[in-house]
Amino acid sequence: MIEIEDVTKIYEGTAVVDRVTLTIQPHTICAVVGTSGSGKTTLVRMINKLVEPSSGAIRIDGVDIAGIPAFQLRRRIGYAIQGLGLFPHRTVGQNIATVPKLLGWNRGRIRDRVEELLDLFGLDPEEFRDRMPHELSGGQQQRVGVARALAAGPNILLMDEPFGALDPLIRAKAQEDLLTIQRRFGTTIMLVTHDMNEAIHLGDTIAVMDKGRLLQAAPPRTIIADPATPFVAELIGTAERPFRLLSLARVSDHAEPGQATGEPIDADRSLRDAYAELLWSGRAAAPVRRNGDIVGRISLDQLARLAARPR
Ligand SMILES: Nc1ncnc2c1ncn2[C@@H]1O[C@H](COP(=O)(O)OP(=O)(O)O)[C@@H](O)[C@H]1O
Ligand SMILES: [Mg+2]
Repeated sequence: MIEIEDVTKIYEGTAVVDRVTLTIQPHTICAVVGTSGSGKTTLVRMINKLVEPSSGAIRIDGVDIAGIPAFQLRRRIGYAIQGLGLFPHRTVGQNIATVPKLLGWNRGRIRDRVEELLDLFGLDPEEFRDRMPHELSGGQQQRVGVARALAAGPNILLMDEPFGALDPLIRAKAQEDLLTIQRRFGTTIMLVTHDMNEAIHLGDTIAVMDKGRLLQAAPPRTIIADPATPFVAELIGTAERPFRLLSLARVSDHAEPGQATGEPIDADRSLRDAYAELLWSGRAAAPVRRNGDIVGRISLDQLARLAARPR
């Protein structure tokens, strides 16, 4: 668990992080969003003591980090940022092995770990272990960067716009990788992003920053349905709000009794999928199927009502 309590950072008389209080539960992803200059990077860098708070306290699993030497802390916290380059003159394997080496792991254990991580990120160890970073594509380099951050099995991973430079397809793959890893290792992740879709997709919680202040920290559903301020609403994108609401809910939660014709829609699809399906097939309603049985229907009327409703 990461507890940020009333933390302020002052640069040249200005509070760039201004009395932020935020708790990140273990094994969850907190996506930090906000306009450029709102203090996201400064906030994240205080967690691994790259920046010293001017006031307030940060606790990890109940322990105030003020009393933990920075080098010790950083071995327990993975850190991945866009453009934090790999060491150019070291192989992929050596890059990933950086922190395990510092920790004095033996060669066998390091080799196994490098192999495991390369596998996990879909990079064949035989093919990639001994390559140099410049021989990799941007997407592959990014994956190796995250693998390096995870190498010593940190409980906490800090990521500062790690996918910013990736093209959309590779970015989607990187996001799926991250979710797989988070489920597998139970890592607690603080992810800075300015992509609201990414925040909604990956975040258990979204923390919205503006001018150093934390405006709202809540699950995506709440942020979308119930934005705390007009700024939050605007950041979420007022025009896309109905679609975002629909993409958060399953067909199974909103099927209504009744009949419909044509190809059924599976109950575990999102309402947004159902909407697309109805539009494409030109139907006002479709049967809903669960485990092979038709359990009701979903209609355009029903979807319109749900999209217009706050919850
Ligand atoms: N080392 C520094 N010295 C002075 N000002 C800084 C320093 N680092 C960041 N700032 C200022 O703090 C504000 C917040 O920066 P930052 O945390 O990088 O925001 P974000 O990551 O949300 O874009 C910005 O106005 C930035 O110029
Ligand atoms: Mg930043």
